[in-house]
Amino acid sequence: MKWNAELYDDKHSFVFQYGENVLELLNAKPGEHILDLGCGTGYLTSEIQKLGAVATGIDTSPEMIAKARATYLNADFFVADGADFDFDDKFDAVFSNAALHWIKNADGAIKSVYNALKSGGRFVAEMGGKGNVQQMVAATTLALNKHGYQVPQNGNPWYFPSTAEYATKLEAAGFRVTFTAHFDRKTQLQDGQQGVAKWLTMFGSSFFAEVPEDKLPQILNEITDELEPHYNDNGQWYSDYKRLRFTAVKEI
Ligand code: BEZ
Repeated sequence: MKWNAELYDDKHSFVFQYGENVLELLNAKPGEHILDLGCGTGYLTSEIQKLGAVATGIDTSPEMIAKARATYLNADFFVADGADFDFDDKFDAVFSNAALHWIKNADGAIKSVYNALKSGGRFVAEMGGKGNVQQMVAATTLALNKHGYQVPQNGNPWYFPSTAEYATKLEAAGFRVTFTAHFDRKTQLQDGQQGVAKWLTMFGSSFFAEVPEDKLPQILNEITDELEPHYNDNGQWYSDYKRLRFTAVKEI
């Protein structure tokens, strides 16, 4: 997927603003070496650095890394595959906000994180959990089907696991899961009535790979209409986010 780094910062900054709560869970200490996995445009990586830690950000998107490097000169940024990366120097902690649900090869990501940590290091993350944006996905599927289209194979780009599912993977890789939570967090969409279409255009374009360009606005309108009773709260639109948070420790 090709990311629009400018639009991401401008209209979807809620992604990293909510991440500030996850920073509290990370509790970075001065001097610690911390890897931000799926750093996007680097805002939270820079916040980690400001806490006195030595922060490195990685992301699969060259566009995001280019923007991060241009904006934040205080941290290191690299393009890397979140499911298969390797560092010579090991980290005290790996942090990740709103990125792991883009990595379908979760075992690859967890193994890479484990190998990147020092003994005693921690993996602190928040991602979409089971049921995340399920109303959005259901309304999208309904509208596509109504027009004779299916969700393409691999059209749904996300992996939203339950606590048990992800904790089992973490434990199988050697981690001890010391904290986990799965909770609802209605998340405000930008631009009111336009918010669903803008969100899907930014994050869910793969659902519409088979739809001709001239048919797309109608389908996006129908998705918006279907979601209105659930998403429109007195003119403010909120999507049905569910978060999965955890801390896992590499003990050996
Ligand atoms: C999320 O943070 O839950 C999310 C963001 C973009 C696409 C899908 C999920």
